[in-house]
Amino acid sequence: MNRFWRSKWTFRLLWLASASPFAWLVWRWYWRDLGVNPLEYVARYTGSWALRFLLLTLAITPLRLIPGLSPLIKFRRMLGLFAFFYASLHAWHYFAIDIQWNREILIEDLTIRRFFIAGMISLLLMVPLALTSFDRAIRWMGGERWRKLHRLVYASAIAACAHYLWQGKAATPTPRLYAALTAALLLTRLVVSIRTRRWPRLRISQG
Ligand code: HEM
Repeated sequence: MNRFWRSKWTFRLLWLASASPFAWLVWRWYWRDLGVNPLEYVARYTGSWALRFLLLTLAITPLRLIPGLSPLIKFRRMLGLFAFFYASLHAWHYFAIDIQWNREILIEDLTIRRFFIAGMISLLLMVPLALTSFDRAIRWMGGERWRKLHRLVYASAIAACAHYLWQGKAATPTPRLYAALTAALLLTRLVVSIRTRRWPRLRISQG
């Protein structure tokens, strides 16, 4: 099992799987196959993938509690960077293609529409995480400071869920399902950190 997770091929395969939603989107865009409302389609598609990758990133810590799955840690950075990639694409598509940098709409969206403000907060919180996701940044900051900064991922996930819930789709089950999943992952993380603080020997091995 350990050999499977440590293999370079597993990493490459997971990378390709993570990039495939983007490739699929480009393919459908090229063939003009984005449905009757392409703008809405791309916004929903990229937003959903950004949130899925964010939750996958959060899921790594609890999954590592399962015996044999501790090597999953090596995928966390890649999954987080894919979350940032899809979220940036999502925001860029909205600003550059949908509203075409229209200043009035932009100011209105980012001042009075709470769902936009939450989306913006979620994206902005991901920026320092992406910028410090490289080995040199970890060495430069020191492990403890780096780990503290990277707790921002939880705030980013909460803001992303608020962004989804506040879109007026609260009556549909999907946003609530994502919110429940996020709450469960945050709770597990909290329990793990309390447990390792009390019993440091239970810390998950980095191997
Ligand atoms: C500047 C930041 C952002 C802007 C301007 C923005 C804008 C939008 C817009 C216009 C929609 C489509 C609403 C509709 O017509 O149905 C949307 C949906 C969505 N966004 Fe964002 N967003 C931002 C950040 C984010 C981030 C960081 C995430 C996740 C990490 C995210 C996740 C979602 C999700 C899950 C949806 C709903 C998809 C669905 O309906 O299936 N957004 N966003």
